[in-house]
Amino acid sequence: MADNIQDRIRSLLKAKDAILLAHNYQPPEIQDAADFCGDSLELSIKAAETDADVLVFCGVHFMAETASILSPRKTVLIPRPDAGCPMADMVTPEALQARIDRLPGVPVVTYVNSTAAVKALSTICCTSANAVEVVNSLAEDEVLMVPDRNLARNTAARTDKKVHLWDGCCPFHDILTPEMVTEAKAAHPEALFLAHPECLPEVVAMADAAVSTSGMIRYARESSRRSFLVGTEVGMHYPLQKACPDKEFIMVSERMHCDDMKKITLEDVLACLEAMRGEVRVPEAIRVPALKAVERMIAVTAG
Ligand code: 13P
Ligand code: SF4
Repeated sequence: MADNIQDRIRSLLKAKDAILLAHNYQPPEIQDAADFCGDSLELSIKAAETDADVLVFCGVHFMAETASILSPRKTVLIPRPDAGCPMADMVTPEALQARIDRLPGVPVVTYVNSTAAVKALSTICCTSANAVEVVNSLAEDEVLMVPDRNLARNTAARTDKKVHLWDGCCPFHDILTPEMVTEAKAAHPEALFLAHPECLPEVVAMADAAVSTSGMIRYARESSRRSFLVGTEVGMHYPLQKACPDKEFIMVSERMHCDDMKKITLEDVLACLEAMRGEVRVPEAIRVPALKAVERMIAVTAG
């Protein structure tokens, strides 16, 4: 049955000149059906580059919005429009504008895990893969980082600039404590520890590498070590194991489970393609300023 659905999805993708993009946290069967899997930065770049008419985005809403910001002439579909990011909802445009008014002249560096309306108020975007590079690319000595206080603190530790925080976080990365890492390290002394930059600074300080989801795959592939403790959302186990079948990956906490990232099923993808439903389109008044912030980020990363 699963093969049958996969075949029907593939033939509809071809018929509609569509590609299927999936984030690294998506369920295994979605990743297997996708044309391309990646982290937030890679998915935005892929969305900007592809010639396909239709992008079916398996991830959370802000990712599909970013694709629509970059490719307004393409049809961007998300099979479950209700798949959101709780961290993205921790900043509203109104609250951000009030903070900007209190910090005149301070550029706003906004994590891509944010709504298009928040990006539209921002100087530049960043992802977990390029936050330090983005902050260092700015001429000013101070920046406001929105909405993840952990990413902001972890970036502050690697730049000379003063970083103003926004009090948001990923509720799943924020639960990983240094005590949990200490316990896991004691049980697996041979393993290296990979942490996502959304983790607490005290946790990141214990990591052998603090990198994006795709950064973890690259790190594990290139490392001569065979065993890794992983501090991020539990969905990362699948792409890590697929990329390195002869290595061992131990998730430090099974409680780091993002329900929104697990909403989309193959049935949803099929239904979305059949009916061309779940379109995400950003109004021009928001898209144009948001595009500036996203394009500025891509230029920093490319340059
Ligand atoms: P990456 O950009 O590292 O894939 O992270 C996205 C995300 O939502 C992490 O929680
Ligand atoms: Fe948002 Fe956290 Fe889920 Fe990533 S894992 S989509 S940051 S809630």
